[in-house]
Amino acid sequence: MIKIIILEVIITICLSNMYKVVKNCIGEEACMLLATEMKTTRSLTNIALDNMTEEEREKYQAGDSMIGDKCFAVYGLSAAESLLLLLQNKAEEIFKKELYPTYTYSRIYYNDAKMKKHTDRDSCEYSVSLCVEKDFYKTPYPLFVDGEPVELEPGDAIFYEGKIHEHWREEYKGFEHTQTFLHYVDKYGKYSDRKYDGRPFVGYGEISNYKLLGKHDLNEYL
Ligand SMILES: [Fe+2]
Repeated sequence: MIKIIILEVIITICLSNMYKVVKNCIGEEACMLLATEMKTTRSLTNIALDNMTEEEREKYQAGDSMIGDKCFAVYGLSAAESLLLLLQNKAEEIFKKELYPTYTYSRIYYNDAKMKKHTDRDSCEYSVSLCVEKDFYKTPYPLFVDGEPVELEPGDAIFYEGKIHEHWREEYKGFEHTQTFLHYVDKYGKYSDRKYDGRPFVGYGEISNYKLLGKHDLNEYL
């Protein structure tokens, strides 16, 4: 009996530390849709920034705290949020868990972008990092996971546990590289309260985006 329990513990630890690369996880057209929406959103963001006062603009600069200004980043891009739902079954199959979707994040990395070694926040218990688009020269930009470089081609994805696996990126030598991240939590786990990342539903953008667009009473839309 004790041997069986020890074996179960070992199997659980091994499974919880796995990551898996899935080649061609999504097709070429799905990649083009995501890449196009990212670029359109960047253009719209630039227009919005151009129409702001200097003071307002400081609050809404593109980029993020992880990469700085060497990227354009979007929380809850519509196409990515749809993909979050579409790939939930695949993620459940790979992680062998029933999951709740939490949120998506998408980035266009620019030349010299690098990401420091880190683990992710609670909403990222089970994650998918998907390569959407590389530059014309197909410049490599591996994600290092627990010290191992993982190079993905457009459409390929790595399924990993962001809170367990330390991950980072070295300096990007190319022009632009687009990546989308899909995050889930165990439906019955200790982070299940992070369902939808605290939002009312998948697809609901960052609160700041709504402030940017206008002061709607969001309760009307729930
Ligand atoms: Fe991360």
